Amino acid sequence: MMNDQSMLTQRLPEEAIAYAAKLLEEGELVAFPTETVYGLGADAMNAVAVAKIYAAKKRPTDHPLIVHLAKDAPLTPWVSHVPRMAEQLIEAFWPGPLTLILQRAPSVPAIVCGGQASIALRSPAHPLAQALLKKFKNGAGGVAAPSANQFGRVSPTTVAHVREEFPVGYEPSVHILEGGNVSVGIESTILDLSRLEQGIGPVMLRPGAITAENIARVIGVLPQAADVHAPRSSGSLAAHYAPRTLLRLLPRAQLRAYLSQERAKKIALICTPPADLFLHAFYIEFAQTTPEAYAYVLYAMLRRLDKLGFDQIVIEQPPKDAIWSAVTDRLRRAAAAFDTH
Ligand code: TXA
Ligand code: MG
Repeated sequence: MMNDQSMLTQRLPEEAIAYAAKLLEEGELVAFPTETVYGLGADAMNAVAVAKIYAAKKRPTDHPLIVHLAKDAPLTPWVSHVPRMAEQLIEAFWPGPLTLILQRAPSVPAIVCGGQASIALRSPAHPLAQALLKKFKNGAGGVAAPSANQFGRVSPTTVAHVREEFPVGYEPSVHILEGGNVSVGIESTILDLSRLEQGIGPVMLRPGAITAENIARVIGVLPQAADVHAPRSSGSLAAHYAPRTLLRLLPRAQLRAYLSQERAKKIALICTPPADLFLHAFYIEFAQTTPEAYAYVLYAMLRRLDKLGFDQIVIEQPPKDAIWSAVTDRLRRAAAAFDTH
């Protein structure tokens, strides 16, 4: 009789991983799952391959990329110096959704870092991403990968989202390593450690699933908020992650007045219970009540609502507590594209 156990055991698709690694080694683009969002990868040491990422995304070339490394891969090809704080954070959080900005080594192609003197590094936790990074150049390489979406748009959390952004036949072509849904749903936390020698930092450039408090517990200091001199970060542009439908983010107290003022419009409302606003919106959905659950559904929700032909999407602002900062940050940036000032 067949052993049911063998059928139930999850196995990594070795052939698909080897094929994706080979394409990367040949300078092609490969989209792959990470625990945060899908990335659009290219060999980080191949400037021609990296240029294809910018072309595919229509992203300005001065916006630097994150280099993804296998767990325990050496950092020396990428950085000139690893501060103690970076070692502590890598030990605590890699593989995982934490990106560190460090001083870059001279051998890294300038295009990877948008011409800056620093470099962004992370080791993703998704098993397929790790398997791909271990196969690619036998684990010694780095894969430059922004989120696999057109510049300024909503990040992809499923294979279908990636295909929407880069359809079959798209130039340059994008191969996808399929890995189901991601588990976190919003991009990694970005922490700048590149200016410690000048007495600046650590600085939080982008909030994510690993919070400032999580970081403080490891290094003993709370990261500062981004300052005007902080390295540029496209995920920190005010308007980013935007759907096409007009999006408003409003506190609960303003929802009723806003909805009655916009009564003639077909409004999709995302809010917490109680449902006393039911009669005022064209369509209503309850918001997730934990930051983890909200992050998990956020981008798929924006994409879904964006396709349904509403005049507006109105979203209730999440609570002010620090644990909500990453979700609130993404919602603010999605709504900022529609600010009139
Ligand atoms: O979760 C993630 O971080 C995903 C997955 C695929 O790993 N990647 C991602 O990449 O979100 P992207 O390109 O969409 O966002 C990377 C952010 C950008 O805002 C970029 O400006 C910033 O990292 N960044 C990269 N290198 C930097 C550097 N040297 N200094 C400051 N910011 C940097
Ligand atoms: Mg992005």
